[in-house]
Amino acid sequence: MTPDSVGRLVSQGHAVAVESGAGNGAGFDDEQYQEAGAEIQPDRSAVLAASDLLAVVNAPRDAEEWGDVPQGTVVVGLLKPFTAPIEVFEYWAEQGVTALSMDALPRVSRAQSMDVLSSLSTVIGYRAAVVAAERLRKFFPLLMTAAGTIPPSRVLVLGAGVAGLQAIATAHRLGAKVEAFDTRPEVREQVESLGAAFLTLDVEATATQDGYATELGQEAHQKENERLREPVARADAIITTAQIPGQRAPILITRDMISGMKPGSVIIDLAAESGGNTEVTEAGRAVFHAGVQIVGAQNLASELPRDASQLYGRNLANFLLYLHQAGLTWDADHAASVPDDEIVNRMIVVHHGQLVHGGLLKRQQGGVLGVAHR
Ligand code: NAI
Repeated sequence: MTPDSVGRLVSQGHAVAVESGAGNGAGFDDEQYQEAGAEIQPDRSAVLAASDLLAVVNAPRDAEEWGDVPQGTVVVGLLKPFTAPIEVFEYWAEQGVTALSMDALPRVSRAQSMDVLSSLSTVIGYRAAVVAAERLRKFFPLLMTAAGTIPPSRVLVLGAGVAGLQAIATAHRLGAKVEAFDTRPEVREQVESLGAAFLTLDVEATATQDGYATELGQEAHQKENERLREPVARADAIITTAQIPGQRAPILITRDMISGMKPGSVIIDLAAESGGNTEVTEAGRAVFHAGVQIVGAQNLASELPRDASQLYGRNLANFLLYLHQAGLTWDADHAASVPDDEIVNRMIVVHHGQLVHGGLLKRQQGGVLGVAHR
């Protein structure tokens, strides 16, 4: 949380404790939190002991990382029930901790001000275009100089959800010629309004109730690969963002298609953490194939920590105030009682000593791959 969001909670009558130095990496120091009304605690265990509700960014890497979270604590953050270590959630269940995951928030209009995935995707999409421009050995814009004309770079964006649309807008602003594709045909208009051309590949996926794309059948998937071959070959930079919630990301670019690209080209794969949109992507690393650099982007939001934290902090503060209003309470034994509310219900990961979220339960039964959505 940033001092700005802490101030909002304090002005609504809540007491906020902040771990000393928590904001340093994003450019916010302890004094700013104090000025906003927070109490600075010297270390993590002091924050845990002082809090009924713990607002965090990610889940810990293992059950020990944060030490003991006291019984009755409500943990709220991007807990990634599809991918984070299941032992952490099992441990919390044993401890009587309640966990609510911001990435399970339903994508409904009413919840937009709390939609962390949209905020982070906006940051990530912007950053992906900037990283592509930085790594490419060419200008993005058309340049007319006394030494001759340099044509603009061609950028291809695959997947036009929140991150894809932001990548399109940024690449376009930097002067590139942008093409894009998504299996949800309804995004064509948005893509075109941002100045990009929407590829007509005649491949469409059905949408879920939440507006997410479903997985393509094998035949449609092959058709998409085939029809992307030419646009991929003519691109200087490609940004891939295609994901299916709870599943491995689809492979849109094969090794063979990369071999057909110009050496020096760049692919920024934003689906790297859920398996990658290319056959050669490695999460957290840049690899080369046939002279093409493929960046398995991971945690790009942390490369713009100040604004990413501003957005995340505002979403969190909005959610915490919503949760309070909906009726989050603790009884005399400090057991938390979560309100029965259509938004909150979808976000419960651990409660009353039980793992609750569908993603966790499936993993417990061994039904889902180790790599999944975000
Ligand atoms: P995401 O990160 O899950 O996926 C990125 C994009 O990849 C999606 O647009 C998806 O259609 C596309 N994709 C999947 N398979 C593909 C394939 N084989 N080839 C090409 N593209 C493929 O998506 P994100 O950004 O989380 O948005 C998903 C949905 O949520 C959208 O419908 C969006 O409109 C909706 N949404 C609704 C909000 C609300 O509050 N009402 C807020 C934000 C998003």
